[in-house]
Amino acid sequence: MNREQTLREMGLGPLWKLRAAPQADEVTAPVAAPMAAQTTAPAVDAPAAITPPPAAGMGWDELAATVAACRQCRLCEARKQAVLGVGDRNADWLFVGEGPGADEDEKGEPFVGQAGKLLDSMLAAIDLKRGNDVYIGNAVKCRPPNNRTPEPEETAACWPYLERQIELLQPKLIIALGRPAAQSLLQTEVKIGASRGKLHRYKDIPVVVTYHPAYLLRNLPDKALAWEDLVFMRRTMRELKAG
Ligand code: URA
Ligand code: SF4
Repeated sequence: MNREQTLREMGLGPLWKLRAAPQADEVTAPVAAPMAAQTTAPAVDAPAAITPPPAAGMGWDELAATVAACRQCRLCEARKQAVLGVGDRNADWLFVGEGPGADEDEKGEPFVGQAGKLLDSMLAAIDLKRGNDVYIGNAVKCRPPNNRTPEPEETAACWPYLERQIELLQPKLIIALGRPAAQSLLQTEVKIGASRGKLHRYKDIPVVVTYHPAYLLRNLPDKALAWEDLVFMRRTMRELKAG
């Protein structure tokens, strides 16, 4: 276990940003904290109160209703609707994007615009199909204005929903499409170029990091690398299924 994983296990991570809603088990009671631990711990603001994450223990229906009404971050202000995710709730594959764009905000489904068409082609390239053993979600559920990248505090505010989706889905493999998804899942700074082609982990679930389809639409030469990533994820899934 590396230092970051250790700190995370101890409830002291992440170092790169703080989740907005600390988990009850991440909160150390100040009186119980040994002095030695305080000298080695990274500087984190002590939470004012023990607030359970807003999605803890929810089933799909309650989660969907909670997300639809959510006002935990400022992305709620300009959205038409929150977009929870779509697909097979027994899926082995979970793809996580960044956040809804205009088309998704309109339709209430992830990846239905241009980037979505490319994602569907990528899925087809490895014999996968939206909705069939595949679930697609996003790091943030509400559209960032002008399709800007979500801010770390927005992905942090929205994290409990993705966390709960993962708990409910129990996917065999998670694919992080682009930096915000990868950073949200791995709780560390990620550069796609350096992180792709390796197996990462969220809790005990393997994670593969690759380029976001919208990035590939702007950087066509990197499609060759994305193809390598598709082959890597297909091989990884075969190995996982073979046990
Ligand atoms: N880009 C994303 O990251 N997610 C979507 O749902 C659509 C485009
Ligand atoms: Fe809530 Fe997530 Fe939407 Fe922010 S982006 S308002 S946390 S559902």
